[in-house]
Amino acid sequence: MQEQLIPRRADATPHAASLIEGLRDIGYSLETAISDVIDNSITAGARRIQIVTETCSDDPMIAIVDDGQGMTEIELVAAMRPGSRNPLAARDAPDLGRFGLGLKSASFSQCRRLTVVSRKFGKTSAAIWDLDDVAKRNIWEVQLPPDVLGIPAIDQLGSAGTLVLWQKLDRLTGSFSHNVGKRAEVINQRIAETEGHLRLVFHRFMEDRPPLFIMLNGRVLRPLDPFAQKYSTTISDPEEKLSLAHGDMEIQSFTLPHHTQMSKADWEDVAGPEGHLKSQGFYLYRGRRLILHGTWFGLCRQSELTKLSRVRIDIPNSMDADWKIDVKKSSAQLPSVVRDRLRKVIERIQDGSKRTYRKRGQKLVDHERLPMWHRIQADGQISYRPNAEHPAFAGFGESLPQDLRTGFFNCIALVGASLPIETLHADLAGSAEQIVPDRVDEDTLVQAVQLTLSALLGQKDIKEIIALMRDVDPFRSAWDDTQRIISATIETRKELP
Ligand SMILES: Nc1ncnc2c1ncn2[C@@H]1O[C@H](COP(=O)(O)OP(=O)(O)O)[C@@H](O)[C@H]1O
Ligand SMILES: [Mg+2]
Repeated sequence: MQEQLIPRRADATPHAASLIEGLRDIGYSLETAISDVIDNSITAGARRIQIVTETCSDDPMIAIVDDGQGMTEIELVAAMRPGSRNPLAARDAPDLGRFGLGLKSASFSQCRRLTVVSRKFGKTSAAIWDLDDVAKRNIWEVQLPPDVLGIPAIDQLGSAGTLVLWQKLDRLTGSFSHNVGKRAEVINQRIAETEGHLRLVFHRFMEDRPPLFIMLNGRVLRPLDPFAQKYSTTISDPEEKLSLAHGDMEIQSFTLPHHTQMSKADWEDVAGPEGHLKSQGFYLYRGRRLILHGTWFGLCRQSELTKLSRVRIDIPNSMDADWKIDVKKSSAQLPSVVRDRLRKVIERIQDGSKRTYRKRGQKLVDHERLPMWHRIQADGQISYRPNAEHPAFAGFGESLPQDLRTGFFNCIALVGASLPIETLHADLAGSAEQIVPDRVDEDTLVQAVQLTLSALLGQKDIKEIIALMRDVDPFRSAWDDTQRIISATIETRKELP
């Protein structure tokens, strides 16, 4: 008979010094790290979160202080343990945590010394992970300081709450650690970028009544609603619900107002650092906290046509596994069951934008109207050609002697044939709203208005002519001047015998 083999076992406790260093590099940035600490504060019921930074001193630091429920010393020591909770355990709906790693890995991604001070039931406890200390001793032990006096930002802690303090900011200071001025500049720049991120990621909490206050060095941050819903000109489609195995998902599409319908400051705010073209797409919220944005999940391209489209997706945290939400809560993958549904949402958006676009194009080709340019679509190609029959061209052409007339129309055809398509294309892809019709000077405008009027006055009444002209350039872009010239021209005509 074969002898039964008993499996042997060997101790494989992680090497503290190296594993804790490894926790530093799972890909957090300053903004995702601070956001993860703020998630804990929100879960702890905080209504006020203060971020305090000290960048100019010899020992720069970042502190995040909340007024949540706080922790007892036992809870605090548990919280300092990497992997303090089981990610598979069911969680309360508002819980923004997951792996029991966030506090530690987010902090170590930015600093080598993490101090957490927490106050609960009137008792204050503190614990410190110092990576240099762990490297020396190589054991999983946090330091419990005998008192909390002198800990930076401790004065910000109220009757209950938690202070998360980052010191030894080696990652943030990088190669400038010895140049105090440069170091402060680098950190401050990164913190300014973080501000925009926090305003966006937590905007729904900051819009709550009563709101969650997030303060940066004493200043309350304003929420940044990526759908600009304070503008009545934002178009919001009805909300759709999708019931899936692990909960309900909600989808709502928005079309931002045209840039001319928003203040410049708001338009730029909503564009974010990446600009509008790159900020279109899905905005995925987990438990009302933004996880990622500005992507169509590879279902279509970010095009100029859909630049103003943003789609809100809301998922509960019970869907983490389906969406492969990562520890940092900054990435996710589209589950195959929702792929088709989202594809339909995109198709609808694309059809809608094409329709508006075509409507605008139609104005250009409508022969009842007065186009300076014709849009010609044939054999799968689209070209633009100046409309030689436009009264401004035709009228002037007719006033020329025959030999000059041909030359004049040749010149106009030349302008059409040399439209700078590549440059236009590049500009449209970048900042379409900055492209405007060229201004014409008074002389040119007067000539165009007069020629147009004399060509049309016999055929249409003045009201119709004005309505026609109002819709096309160059009159549309210089409408006040055009109106003035029309009135003056009509007055002069009346005076004529
Ligand atoms: N600001 C805070 N207030 C109260 N408790 C906190 C706070 N930050 C962290 N904790 C506690 O520490 C635990 C571990 O936090 P973390 O490492 O971020 O993992 P997770 O959020 O996934 O549980 C939390 O589950 C919570 O119990
Ligand atoms: Mg957490």
